[in-house]
Amino acid sequence: MRPAQGFEHLGLAEVWLRSADEAAWAEVRARAERLGATGLEVWTTDETPEVAAFLRARGFGLVRSYAISELDLASAPDPAPSSFPLTTLAERPDLALALYEVALVAYPDQPGRSESQLSTFEIWRGWSLAPHPPGACFIALENGAVLGYGYLTVDGDAATHGFTALARGARGRGIAGAIKRAQIAWARQHGIRTLRAANELRLTQMLSLNERLGYRVLYTELVFRGRLEIPPTGFEPVLPA
Ligand SMILES: CC(C)(COP(=O)(O)OP(=O)(O)OC[C@H]1O[C@@H](n2cnc3c(N)ncnc32)[C@H](O)[C@@H]1OP(=O)(O)O)[C@@H](O)C(=O)NCCC(=O)NCCS
Repeated sequence: MRPAQGFEHLGLAEVWLRSADEAAWAEVRARAERLGATGLEVWTTDETPEVAAFLRARGFGLVRSYAISELDLASAPDPAPSSFPLTTLAERPDLALALYEVALVAYPDQPGRSESQLSTFEIWRGWSLAPHPPGACFIALENGAVLGYGYLTVDGDAATHGFTALARGARGRGIAGAIKRAQIAWARQHGIRTLRAANELRLTQMLSLNERLGYRVLYTELVFRGRLEIPPTGFEPVLPA
């Protein structure tokens, strides 16, 4: 369990549950209390519907759903070349702050994340750019201005699409599609076997793009949110005399 990234100001912690019973739930509540959380985002999948039912019975509601899909690079067709000229963070490390400015707008624009608040530039750079290959972080530029970017996380011969973000005025021009095609080409050139994506179900344009490019849906991640109603500390029950 950890504070829910972007939702710390709401007092939310996040945790994964792959099974649920009263003992596990008591442990979750105890950990949340130790973290000082007053609410939880609980991650689970559609492969364990009993967890979803358990959470709904405790007043938790579904706030986001992500299709997890995978491209098998050995059998996937070669994507068409990117239709928009792109550079990379390896070529233009000086653009990191401009990427952050796009991220500041794009994070709360994600479905179900309107309340999200991004950390400072240095903290954001520490988890969203620094650990990932800068040559696989593609950037769309027009007249010197950053329109958007997308990065890959890489673990051995498996890679995952990280966040893709477009400036509001640049959306709907096929730029996210161009970034994805460039990432597929990079993955192929670097011996990656599988490329995973997590896309919120409301981003129908991204889901149909994935389908066109040959990604296969594996399962759906579900995020439930609820309050914990932990009694205030120092509460002393008054017993009848
Ligand atoms: C989600 C987001 C990244 C999409 O970026 P975008 O540049 O507007 O997306 P594109 O225009 O490239 O659209 C993606 C694909 O869907 C197609 N498309 C666009 N609108 C469509 C529609 N209404 N129906 C079906 N397909 C559509 C595009 O043609 C493109 O496919 P192509 O590359 O084969 O041409 C952007 O809206 C954004 O930054 N949102 C906020 C942050 C966010 O939610 N990020 C999560 C990304 S997974």
